[in-house]
Amino acid sequence: MQHIRQVVDGEFASVNDFIVEQLHSRVTLVENIGHYIIEAGGKRLRPLLSLLSAGSLGEIRHDHIRLAAVIEFIHTATLLHDDVVDLSALRRGRPTANAEFGNAPSVLVGDFLYSRAFQVLVAIGNMPLMALLSDTTNTVAEGEVLQLSRAGNADTDEATYFQVIHSKTAVLFAAACAGSALLSDSDEQRQALYDYGLNLGIAFQVVDDILDYEGDPSETGKNVGDDLAEGKPTLPLIYVLNNGSAEQRKLVENAISNKSAEQLNDIVALVQGSGALDYCRERARHYSDLAKTALSKLPPSEYRDAMAALIDLALERRS
Ligand code: IPE
Ligand code: IPE
Ligand code: MG
Ligand code: MG
Repeated sequence: MQHIRQVVDGEFASVNDFIVEQLHSRVTLVENIGHYIIEAGGKRLRPLLSLLSAGSLGEIRHDHIRLAAVIEFIHTATLLHDDVVDLSALRRGRPTANAEFGNAPSVLVGDFLYSRAFQVLVAIGNMPLMALLSDTTNTVAEGEVLQLSRAGNADTDEATYFQVIHSKTAVLFAAACAGSALLSDSDEQRQALYDYGLNLGIAFQVVDDILDYEGDPSETGKNVGDDLAEGKPTLPLIYVLNNGSAEQRKLVENAISNKSAEQLNDIVALVQGSGALDYCRERARHYSDLAKTALSKLPPSEYRDAMAALIDLALERRS
């Protein structure tokens, strides 16, 4: 990751400075929570995608820096809300904002970040970009609601799972990339960048769902078993439901419908021993191959090489 970032080192630092500058509020609690979550780090993967996409098309301009910050704000807002909805206690290696400050301030500061993102977008003043990001944000919200409506429901199929992750995760990756093409007036490359981001985002979320069963909290900064405790029928569980013995299916069905992580150890062992994670990795690889194909449509550059390296990193990541 360090190596990939170096390609856009100076611009990356500018994005971070701009983010901190834009966290400004007259209300102290807004700033406290904003700084708390933003300064906990995070991989800043989506802003990196905006910068690399811009570089792959030519010059990285100030508007690209602002776009990258907008994307990270939207992402951070979704995390503040997501951790309330998911009852999560650990994020970026720290107690979540909801654990530290409570649900109400987390939701409200999430709203502040969303609206700040749109203020910056208005300052950029590019109508097609505003359309892309308002559609994207709306789709992310829809994806989270669809997922919520499937929680506790063990007859969720793979198609629905992919619809959820397409909406809640992948479209923001796609917008991070295609948004840069809009700012660069690069009609020709916009679709390739969108497809790259979308498929990378799908692979990234499949891996996130694997890590919920085999990740190390000291690396991911998140707890294992959160998805199970929420009764989320993610791909590892869907695999067991489709391929396990009657007894194994019963174990998973009960955990999902009771939204209970009580049998977490048994289910982790089952998921790990059943081939479910290999199957998930195979699916992630399928989407990462699609991302590679899309990328091959861009002109060769060090930026494109870094974007290719990010695909591999998304698959192999432990954090
Ligand atoms: C977490 O995204 C939410 C998902 C889409 C899985 P990241 O893993 O990019 O989170 P940070 O920003 O690095 O903390
Ligand atoms: C990611 O979903 C949230 C959004 C993309 C809006 P998850 O619930 O799987 O993410 P983590 O695991 O909490 O980071
Ligand atoms: Mg979550
Ligand atoms: Mg997750």
